[in-house]
Amino acid sequence: MRVGVLVIDFGGQYAHLISRRLRELRTFSLLASAEGGLDSIKEFEKNLNIKGIILSGGPASVWEASHDEIAKWAINRGVPVLGICYGHQLLAKILGGRVGKAPRGEFGPTTVEVINENLILKNHGKRFRAWMSHNDAVLEKPPGSMILAKSPGSPVAAFKYRDEVFGIQWHPEVHHTEHGIKLFENWLSLTNAKGLWNPGDLINEIVKMIRDLVRESKAIAAVSGGVDSTVAAVLAKIALGDRLIPIFIDHGLHPEGEVKRAISMLNKNGLEPLIIEASGTFLDALKGIKGPEEKRRIIGRLYGKILEDEALKLNAKFLIQGTIYPDVIESGARPGADIIKTHHNVGGLPRDLKFRVIEPLRWFYKDEVREIAKMLNLSEELWKFKQPIPGPGLAVRIEGEITREKLEIVRKADKIVREEVESANIHGKLWQYFAVLSASKATGVKGDRRAYGHVIVVRIVESRDAMTANVARIPWGVLERIATRITGELSSVTRVVYDITPKPPATIEWE
Ligand code: XMP
Repeated sequence: MRVGVLVIDFGGQYAHLISRRLRELRTFSLLASAEGGLDSIKEFEKNLNIKGIILSGGPASVWEASHDEIAKWAINRGVPVLGICYGHQLLAKILGGRVGKAPRGEFGPTTVEVINENLILKNHGKRFRAWMSHNDAVLEKPPGSMILAKSPGSPVAAFKYRDEVFGIQWHPEVHHTEHGIKLFENWLSLTNAKGLWNPGDLINEIVKMIRDLVRESKAIAAVSGGVDSTVAAVLAKIALGDRLIPIFIDHGLHPEGEVKRAISMLNKNGLEPLIIEASGTFLDALKGIKGPEEKRRIIGRLYGKILEDEALKLNAKFLIQGTIYPDVIESGARPGADIIKTHHNVGGLPRDLKFRVIEPLRWFYKDEVREIAKMLNLSEELWKFKQPIPGPGLAVRIEGEITREKLEIVRKADKIVREEVESANIHGKLWQYFAVLSASKATGVKGDRRAYGHVIVVRIVESRDAMTANVARIPWGVLERIATRITGELSSVTRVVYDITPKPPATIEWE
């Protein structure tokens, strides 16, 4: 069983970041949504030897949303507990402190004054800038606790109760907070989980796990040429040798040239997939379908059906999939999580498949998977430069119904974006750069005539793990060239817009 920290998510925007920061400190952590109540949180004990618990921030007031039971459970376990923002107020409330309207709300950078340089505030100096976002505050400390810090709007900005329970009003997980990572490091030194997580060290363990599960049987692996599915298939290949059959399904929704690129990438990394051409089947099934979730479900179902047919033909009893941790969380594949999107490789697959699904990477974030790829000596092109392409491909980059004509437009526009970004040699630090065909139409003038055509959206983002993303500030000249080429080379496009929305509040893909 994995040893680590359980982060309880009370619906705060940054709960995921907490889990990421802990992993950066080489400490395994899982995110448990509070929505399913205490019972669903207790489920995590089956997968995790819990050495510490963090209570995240959340939008509610401690007087509206009652999560007292969860906080009591956390405190009574006797492991180190850290409450952040809402979590801090919740701990204070159940320990008998006074929580109420703050003397003033604090939003954004706030100066925190250290009153007692206790362990978790070690090396923070006398004053530091921390990012806060709250209307309520802890006004009086719980009896028997000690105040560690204050700020203009928080008389008790940090407190300590017993030796192992801490509350802080600010968000150490956010980059704008000074010493944020230091705070986690300090707190983690109280747990026995720090430094035990190294994704690369787990290669042998994963290979053994696959071997033990599959035994003498055969497995197929669904591969797309992306990092996750390639790494999962390579690990399975190490475990099973020729008893692993990689399968690449051409669903006809790939960007221009992607099928060729993917196959050559797979070959370079030692995988010779069976290629199944099924574009007609997918396009037929998607006829008339407009909703993004429905498109995803249809693609997922068909994908599963094709894999199932192949498994039957090959007598394979297992399917290896490159599902990663954010897919698991966003698809609501465990109790208490919200379904954000039905990622076709998790929620989209039918439940009654005739094989068992093995997801060797389901606990890893994307950058950890890249690390494993590097350790496996896979090509740099794969782990350093490969853009993630969503499983449903261009189906989620065409707003509304998919037609051959629209596919052709978005493919050409996407190719231009790719060419211009790559020839400017700025792609090394980008997460994704692509075109979306919006459902809008806009007026233009082409050759002295009024034109009424499509609007192409250019989306270029930087990210570490796709949980958050920033809009890339790419040189203006590159954007101009992209717009000129798209409107010049595609007669039905009258307008090109650059999406300047970060994630959150937007997602990376448009659908
Ligand atoms: P969003 O749009 O949720 O995307 O910010 C986060 C990352 O996931 C990719 N993505 C998908 N991948 N199936 C996939 O396999 C999907 O349905 C899907 N939707 C989004 C997206 O490209 C980004 O890297």
